[in-house]
Amino acid sequence: MAEVEKELLFSRETILARVRDIAREISSEYAGTEPVLIGVLNGAVFFFSDLVMELNIPAIIDFIRASSYGSQMQSSGSVAFTKDVEVPVEGKHVILVEDIVDTGLTLKKIITSLRKKGPASIRVCALIDKLERREEDIVIDYRGFRIEEGFLVGYGLDFNEQYRTLPHIYTVRG
Ligand code: PRP
Repeated sequence: MAEVEKELLFSRETILARVRDIAREISSEYAGTEPVLIGVLNGAVFFFSDLVMELNIPAIIDFIRASSYGSQMQSSGSVAFTKDVEVPVEGKHVILVEDIVDTGLTLKKIITSLRKKGPASIRVCALIDKLERREEDIVIDYRGFRIEEGFLVGYGLDFNEQYRTLPHIYTVRG
């Protein structure tokens, strides 16, 4: 596949500094509890790993994978959970961990589904809060970076499954 032109946006060092800040905040706000951190696959995998290892409180981890049926059909609400949460979340404090919130449709559906399992609380932690295409009013409790627009790759973010494994985050030009 042809290489795209990309420009460095957040270096791994910059990302890790933010990750440590967020981990400190979560550790302090959840002190004395054992939250369940749920990573949304695949994109959140590196952010999730870095984040949970920086926590200094006990935590349970699990993953969820929601796939929507293409952009034209998203409004129909068709999101399939190809991997649901497996650990019990009833009565637990849940933190959903996303790499990016774009339209907000994925998180909206995940939150709706998760609520039915009776957690004590659900909060959202997202590395990138991207505003230009937001459709759902999602409250992001812990945010790494806020950007207005742009297509990002690296650190879990992909372009047709490429560039996920890059350690830094880039903007794709074009
Ligand atoms: C990406 C990202 C979020 C979602 C955000 O996942 O990881 O889960 O899109 O977009 P939204 O706010 O518009 O719903 P994607 O479905 O591309 O799968 P991936 O994580 O495997 O890349």
